[in-house]
Parts: sequence; structure tokens; C-alpha cells
Amino acid sequence: MELKAKWMGIPWNWTEEMDSTNEWAKRDAKNGAPSGAVYIADSQTQGKGRIGRRWETPKGSSLALSLLLRPDFEAEHAPMLTLIMGMAACMAIEKITGLTAEIKWPNDVVINKKKTTGILTEMGMSEGKISYVVVGIGINLNMESFPEELAYKATSLKIECGHEINRDEIAAALLFYFEQYYEKFEQTHNLGFLIEEYNNHLVNRGKEVLIKEKDGEYTGISRGINDKGELLVEKKDGNCVEIFSGEVSVRGL
Ligand code: ATP
Ligand code: BTN
Repeated sequence: MELKAKWMGIPWNWTEEMDSTNEWAKRDAKNGAPSGAVYIADSQTQGKGRIGRRWETPKGSSLALSLLLRPDFEAEHAPMLTLIMGMAACMAIEKITGLTAEIKWPNDVVINKKKTTGILTEMGMSEGKISYVVVGIGINLNMESFPEELAYKATSLKIECGHEINRDEIAAALLFYFEQYYEKFEQTHNLGFLIEEYNNHLVNRGKEVLIKEKDGEYTGISRGINDKGELLVEKKDGNCVEIFSGEVSVRGL
């Protein structure tokens, strides 16, 4: 079966090199581009990760894709699109490679505990309402190795499954799954429909994790997400904290 989205991916914008596909989509959004537009670059000179970090996009071996959306919901719901994209990426990767993919909340997909995928969601506001949301995703497809500083924590689909991955095929599958989830999310503005599937794919669920926030760190047991997309972490005293996906990182111990 060919996996094909209905309206996401129209128009489909591709270029050889771009600073960042998220920046490209944001510029195009300001020029009136429609909801569903997709931006793909073979390489990015300034690929961006979370919190001002860098995302490596070597030519010919990655998927760097940004999706422009113009949702009709409150800004507080936009971070949940990162989680929806994470789930869509897991589904697409598993469908195409047969591997088991896991989600490292809030924005990574890992295989055998190493990062294959990062997601960065950005938003533009106008008169107090969302004007656009850009959901950007980088998937390591066909790298055969990584520079030393990344090799211990990064991997590619080719390293894990042993064969080349077709970029267009994975991009199409990704948008197919994302579109289905997005249409459900638009009806309720919560992640109730996805919780079970998401938590079944959550790395370190039921295990001890280290939570690093701007002003400190603590450990607890990861209990999965709630319908707002917050991660529930049970602390030693038995109380559960709900972590919002701001500038936080969650590590296994
Ligand atoms: P944490 O979420 O625990 O802080 P993280 O290293 O995944 O860890 P993110 O902000 O999610 O942090 O991702 C950005 C980081 O990803 C960069 O600082 C860099 O170390 C790493 N990185 C950059 N390019 C790639 C890539 N192509 N594949 C895997 N990892 C990469
Ligand atoms: C992260 O792991 O911190 C997020 C990485 C997001 C990378 C993607 S690649 C396509 C899009 N364009 C960017 O500049 N960043 C995102």
C-alpha cells in the first residue's frame, strides 16, 4: 500500500541547500503560503535544534523537512504537535525499516537508545492568535558514521537496518501518519486519542529518569504522558509532577 497524505505536502517545496527548512517555511508563511505546505532541503547550512542547538544535516543522507500549518486553536496547544510528529515518525520508521523506534519525550526518536530524529516546532502569532506553526523534523537516514562528538548518541536508519532508505518514501509515510493524527487532534485539542500508542513507544517508561530543568535537576520514575502532552514523573515521595515540554531534558539513568 502506498502511504500518501491527502492535503499535507501541497505544495511540496524542495531545494538542494537551505539555511534551515524551518526558517524557509517561516519566511514563506509570512508571504502567505498555505497550511500543508512542505519544505525539504538536501542539506542545511544552519540546521537548528532545540534551545539554539545545532542540527547536522549532511548532504544526501538526511531528511530535513518542515511542515507549515495554520491551525485554528490556542497557542498553548502548539507544543503538542511536536509529540504528534514524534509518534508519526515512529510509525513511519517502523513501517519502512521494520525496526522498533522509541520516543524520547518530548522531541526525539531513538533506536537502540540512540537518536535518529529531532523535532523543532516554532510558531508565529498575529493579533493574539496563531498565524502559523512550523513543525520541523530531521531524520538521519543514510549516514554510515558520525563525527566523534555525536557518535555515542546518534545513529541513522541505515546503520540500524543495514540498507539505504529512500527519502521520499519516508517523507510520504511521515505526512500520511501525521495528517491522520492532526485531523483527530483538531477535533479535541488534546492527545487522549494518542496516549496509549505514545506511551507504548516511550523510552524509559516505568524506569528512573533524570529531569534537568533550567534551575535544577531531580530523578523520578517516568509514568508516561497525559492528554496535554505533559510527562508524568513520580518522585521518591510518591508525588507525581507534570512536566511541560519547555527547556527540559529527560535522560535515562
Ligand atoms: P536532551 O534532549 O537530553 O537535552 P539532545 O542532545 O537530544 O538531548 P536536543 O536539544 O533534543 O538535545 O537536540 C539537539 C542536539 O542533537 C545537538 O546539541 C547535538 O548534540 C545533537 N545533534 C545534532 N545533529 C544531530 C544529528 N544529525 N543526529 C543526532 N543528533 C544530532
Ligand atoms: C532537536 O533535536 O533539537 C531538533 C532538531 C530539529 C531538526 C529539524 S531538520 C528540519 C528543520 N529545520 C531545522 O533547522 N531544524 C528542523
